[in-house]
This record gives sequence, structure tokens and C-alpha cells, in this order.
Amino acid sequence: MFTLRFIAAAALAAQTSAASHSVRTRQSELRDEYDFIIAGGGTAGLTVADRLTEAFPDLNVLVVEYGDIEATPGFFDPPGSPPLATVRNYSVPVLTLDNRPADLGIGMTVGGSSAVNGQFFDRASRHDYDDWELEMRSLRDGTVFTRNATREVILSAGAIHTPQVLQRSGIGPSDLLKRAGIDVVADLPGVGYNFQDHPSIRLGVNITRNPIPNQDMLQTDPAYLQTTLEQFAERPARGPWTMNWDSQGVFLPMTNVTSSFQTIAASLREQMANGSALSTLPVGADESVERGYQTQLATLAGILENPAQPIIEVPFGGAEFSTPSTGVPTIGILLKPLSRGAVVLDPADVDAEPTIHYGTLANDLDIDIMASFLSFFRRLWDAPTLRDTLGVVETDPGPEKIGSDTPAGEVAAWLRDNVFASLVHPCCTAAMMPKSHGGVVGRDLRVHGASGLRVVDASVFSLIPGAHLSATVYAVAEKVSTLSE
Ligand SMILES: *[C@@H]1O[C@H](CO)[C@@H](O)[C@H](O)[C@H]1NC(C)=O
Ligand SMILES: *[C@@H]1O[C@H](CO)[C@@H](O)[C@H](O)[C@H]1NC(C)=O
Ligand SMILES: *[C@@H]1O[C@H](CO)[C@@H](O)[C@H](O)[C@H]1NC(C)=O
Ligand SMILES: *[C@@H]1O[C@H](CO)[C@@H](O)[C@H](O)[C@H]1NC(C)=O
Ligand SMILES: *[C@@H]1O[C@H](CO)[C@@H](O)[C@H](O)[C@H]1NC(C)=O
Repeated sequence: MFTLRFIAAAALAAQTSAASHSVRTRQSELRDEYDFIIAGGGTAGLTVADRLTEAFPDLNVLVVEYGDIEATPGFFDPPGSPPLATVRNYSVPVLTLDNRPADLGIGMTVGGSSAVNGQFFDRASRHDYDDWELEMRSLRDGTVFTRNATREVILSAGAIHTPQVLQRSGIGPSDLLKRAGIDVVADLPGVGYNFQDHPSIRLGVNITRNPIPNQDMLQTDPAYLQTTLEQFAERPARGPWTMNWDSQGVFLPMTNVTSSFQTIAASLREQMANGSALSTLPVGADESVERGYQTQLATLAGILENPAQPIIEVPFGGAEFSTPSTGVPTIGILLKPLSRGAVVLDPADVDAEPTIHYGTLANDLDIDIMASFLSFFRRLWDAPTLRDTLGVVETDPGPEKIGSDTPAGEVAAWLRDNVFASLVHPCCTAAMMPKSHGGVVGRDLRVHGASGLRVVDASVFSLIPGAHLSATVYAVAEKVSTLSE
């Protein structure tokens, strides 16, 4: 039997069953116990709740969520639309990026980050999922209360808060827990480690032959804005406001990005052989976490050479992402970062938000990989359709700043000054790997060494998928629902 503590600041509990469901906002409205308790009413938690109540109509399921039920419009809605659902924003200094901040936003609402995403819904290459076979307080009044689950607790609080809840509940690296004065229930050194997100480099171009109409006219041309608002009000709606944030993207393997892919893979294997890769891990990484990282790097070296497994995503054609905004590709997203971060409690204040360490570009080879993106973009912009038809001209960084003969050290410094740490894709902090390799859950998503507790959210990924995350989060939640009780 497992008891989790929630320090709720505005706990909203939705008690659901196929026969009836209701929203409860006060502790006094709750039953003493439930068959299942799901911590986190986000993408994964609500999917699991839905499937559980379908499968067991007579059992009681409690979903605990700290956000509200909100009307959530799209991400790129016309002026005058209701505001976006509540996002909890983090701005975390990244040591390896000259202390520039990682900006991370998490949906703080029923629906979680599915309510505030850019609507890029895609799955990764099948190889990405094969690689996982690595398998080897009431916000109202601040009181702390408990509820027991007779069958199972499902933790779906997301990659930042799932490790936080585990660590607070005594499941995590024992050294950390002891320093924080928390009784160790299960020594699981991997909880919070293996943290990954998608870093990106955002370049600039000018489109000197901008077609008409173009997206900038939504800001600069009131008559065009009016026309598009009328189009949006039609049923069915049409026009530019019906677009999502990005509408297309290409996902290419390293073999298409640079002819140096084998050199980079060879350096990675050398880093593993001579042990230097381990020095890039965050402070406090246990031996088992190191072992898991070495195993992942062997897989990643293979990915760098696999012509069927993407390394870079280039989104384009969306609502917001280029300047001027005509959808010319300018953003290179590193889908398979080698660097790792960590999400750990502050031992001096376990009730505070956890400390989020981004390790972006900690491994130098991520710099070599991202540096190759620039020459890739230059080849792309040199295509006749972009160069001649749209008149694409590079403005940032520009060949005078970073040219083909710029020393590697200057290119690296430029990347550390310009790479974005987060694509708002935090994951992998309670990875599905063996305990001996820093893993936190097994194939059935049960937490190693604990009973009656599963994690179902993006924390369980071992390697970040080469895709936006929500489709895979849904898939994991659907998959766990098919596992026998
Ligand atoms: C979080 O950041 C987004 C994007 O910058 C912003 O629109 C929103 O208002 C912020 N939310 C809060 C609560 O500050
Ligand atoms: C939950 O279970 C624990 C251990 O059996 C028990 O001490 C506690 O009173 C229970 N809590 C509730 C709210 O029933
Ligand atoms: C972009 O190109 C247009 C057309 O040549 C020019 O008017 C404008 O000043 C340029 N903008 C920048 C930022 O270079
Ligand atoms: C990627 O490489 C493959 C194999 O060399 C080639 O057939 C394909 O056209 C390339 N694609 C792009 C977009 O460069
Ligand atoms: C280990 O190999 C990497 C990759 O070639 C290299 O950069 C690093 O200097 C080597 N470290 C040691 C200690 O030999």
C-alpha cells in the first residue's frame, strides 16, 4: 500500500466512473479511499482515467489536478479570442549556455500541456520506439492530506513533477533524500536523472520578394486583418487564422545533414571508450545512471549513422516561427541530444519547485552536430525556389559572422549564445530501463522496488522521441491501459 503526499495549492479532484463523474474541489467531498488514484489530470492521466473507468465501471477512480477546468482556444487565434489556458512558466539558468535561461512552460490546467501545445501531432520513426527496448497541500488552505488507493496509484504529473512527487515520497537517489531529511522508501538513483528536451537553433532570413498576401500583413494591413477575421468567423472557418503554430516539418537523418556523420559517430564511440562522456553528466549521477548513459550513447552512435532515423527537425509553414513570417525554414531542432540534465528536489526546501538542471550542449558532440545544421540551412536556402523566387537572404548569423573558415571555437561560442534549451518537450526523468542502468520503471511502467505504483507520462521515455511528444504520451497511456491489472 502506497501513500502519496500532496501539497495542494488549489487541488481540484475529479472523481470519475463510467456511471457518474463529478468535480470535487474540497477535501471534505472526497471519499476516504479510492480504487485508483491518478496524480495529474494531463494528457496521460486523463487518458488512463478514461480507459480505467471504461474497463472497471464499478470501481472508483480519483484524478488529482492542481489546475482548473478552462476553455482553451487554439495557440494562434485571432485578436479578441479568450486567453490561452494557464501555463506555469519556468525560466531556468543553463550553465552550459552561458547561464542564459531555458524557458519552459507547462500546462497548469485540466488537460495539462495538451491544452497549450502548438498542435504538432506526429509520431517518431519506428526505430525510435525499438530503441526503448533498451529495457534492460490543498491549494485552498495549504493543508497536507492523504488518500489511499486500494489498487494502484498512477503518477502522471509530467517530467518535472513526477520525479518531484517520487522524491518527496521517498523514492529517489538515497543520498539526496537523506540530505533532504526524507525517509528512503526505495533507493532509485535514476529518479530525476536522464532529463531530456529538444534543443534548437533559430536562424534569421529576410524574404526580399515577399508574396502577397503574407502573414506579416496580419499586423501591418488592417484591411487584410479584417478580411481574415471574417473568414475565420465563417462556418466552416477558413483563412490564415485556422492554421496552427507550425503546419509542416521535415525530419532528416544525419546522413542527409552532413558528410561528417561517421566522424561524429566515431568520436562518440571514443568518448564512451575513454570514459570522457561520463564527465558531461549532471552532478550526483549515480554509477547506475552512468551505465544507462553509456548504453544510450551506443544506441545514439548508431542513430547518427542510420539513414532511416531522423536527427534534425525543420518546422516551417506555420503561424509564428520565421521573420518575416512566410514559413521559410529557419529553425533546426536537435531530435536526439547526447547531453543530459536532471530534475531534483532542493534539499533545503523540499516543498519548493524542484531544481531543473538543463545540460544543453554539455556534451561537445552536440555542438558538432548543431554546427552542421547551419551549412545544411545554407544549402536549403540556396535552392532556386527559395533564393530566386522568394529572394531569401540570410540575416542571422550571416556569413560575415559565421563563415566556412570561422574557427570551431567561435562557432561553439556562437551556439552557446544562441541555442534554445527547451522546445517545451521535457521528458525521460523516470525512464523505462533496468534499475542497474538508472531506470525507474519496468516494461509495465511499475516503479522498481515499490508496489501499487506506476508512472504514466513522458517521464518514462528512455530516449526522447524524434517527434513532438504528445502523440507518444497518448500512445503510452493507451498502451498501459491494455496491460493486465
Ligand atoms: C507564460 O508564458 C507565456 C509565453 O510567453 C505567456 O503568454 C503567459 O502569459 C505566461 N504565463 C504566466 C502565468 O506568466
Ligand atoms: C492510508 O493507509 C495508511 C496505512 O495503512 C493509514 O495509516 C492511513 O490512515 C490511511 N489513510 C486514509 C485517509 O485512509
Ligand atoms: C528585407 O527585404 C526588404 C525588401 O528588399 C527590405 O525592404 C527590408 O528592409 C529588408 N529587411 C531587413 C531586416 O533586412
Ligand atoms: C537524403 O539522402 C538520401 C540517400 O542519400 C537521398 O536519396 C535523399 O534524396 C536525401 N534527401 C534529402 C532531402 O536531401
Ligand atoms: C576521449 O575521446 C574524446 C572524443 O574523441 C576526446 O575529445 C577526449 O579528449 C578523449 N578524452 C581522453 C581523456 O582521452
